Amino acid sequence: MSTRQRKENKKTKENVVDDKDNNESAKKSHLVRTKTDPGVYKKAVSRALVRVLFIAAFLIGLMFIRSKEDFKILASQKEFYQKKTFQVSCSKDYDDFEKFPGCTPTRCGRLVIDGLITEKEARQLLQIAKNGLALGGSNGGASILDLHSGALSKGNSFINLFKYLENENLDNIFEKDDVEVYKHVKNKIKAVISREFGVTKSRLHLTHPTFFSRMNNKPAQTVHDEYWHPHIDKVTYETFDYTSLVYLTDYGKDFDGGRFVFVDKEANWTVEPRVGRLSLFTSGSENLHYVEKVSSGTRYAITVSFTCNDKHAIENPDF
Ligand SMILES: *[C@@H]1O[C@H](CO)[C@@H](O)[C@H](O)[C@H]1NC(C)=O
Repeated sequence: MSTRQRKENKKTKENVVDDKDNNESAKKSHLVRTKTDPGVYKKAVSRALVRVLFIAAFLIGLMFIRSKEDFKILASQKEFYQKKTFQVSCSKDYDDFEKFPGCTPTRCGRLVIDGLITEKEARQLLQIAKNGLALGGSNGGASILDLHSGALSKGNSFINLFKYLENENLDNIFEKDDVEVYKHVKNKIKAVISREFGVTKSRLHLTHPTFFSRMNNKPAQTVHDEYWHPHIDKVTYETFDYTSLVYLTDYGKDFDGGRFVFVDKEANWTVEPRVGRLSLFTSGSENLHYVEKVSSGTRYAITVSFTCNDKHAIENPDF
């Protein structure tokens, strides 16, 4: 016999042995199955248990994810807040810029006040916004009207309302006392900032951009329509120190979605727009925020911005 033949012989033998073994184990397992040994129940029970645990873990995980998406309400549309304050520690952002003692934020936070801007004033501001925006309007979901610079959204960009109207009298668009109401509202906001944040009034200045906004659910056409990205005002406009908003329409009545959201590490806090509601906050990264997408209806507001740097002060509008 050659070595090769011996090897093959051996292999055959081994194979035979293996087959025998297989047959026996097959018989055994067959027996086990037909005899329904209690171990099988144990296995089935433990398998079911594992399945239940997996499902439970999945559901708990799902609940966790869902609860993470939950918002906490800082100001509900249905409530009237004489004054609601929410303190946060100031970010380091203010250190990157020239500081103005008696004005640059040293206490930071958020403030919601109802009733300071009367409903009548809010309605008049809304009418100004509607009248002005009727002359333009973005193709997408966000339009602005700035009555200081004249900037007005139109199509996919902006025009200057004052130049556009060159030959037309502004009196045909705005009421005689509109500008007075506008200034009066601005002065009331300024007084609140001064009082609540310990700012010397004469050191605080209205700044650019101060504008009306109109938001709806039209798909964005340009980046200017994308108002829903979280941002920091002082990063976007470094001159900002205090940002204020006056809401001119009601969340849940005039529109849905469109809540203002402060993004904190632990939670996201919403301010639900309410006619005449003033929302005020320091402009640094302690107040990262965004506006939720409007899902239906039209949301109107005015952003009134303040700086401590007199080089960036703007005048009262003249319209
Ligand atoms: C808060 O909102 C941001 C931006 O939408 C999101 O990334 C974050 O997960 C939210 N945080 C919580 C705690 O819900």
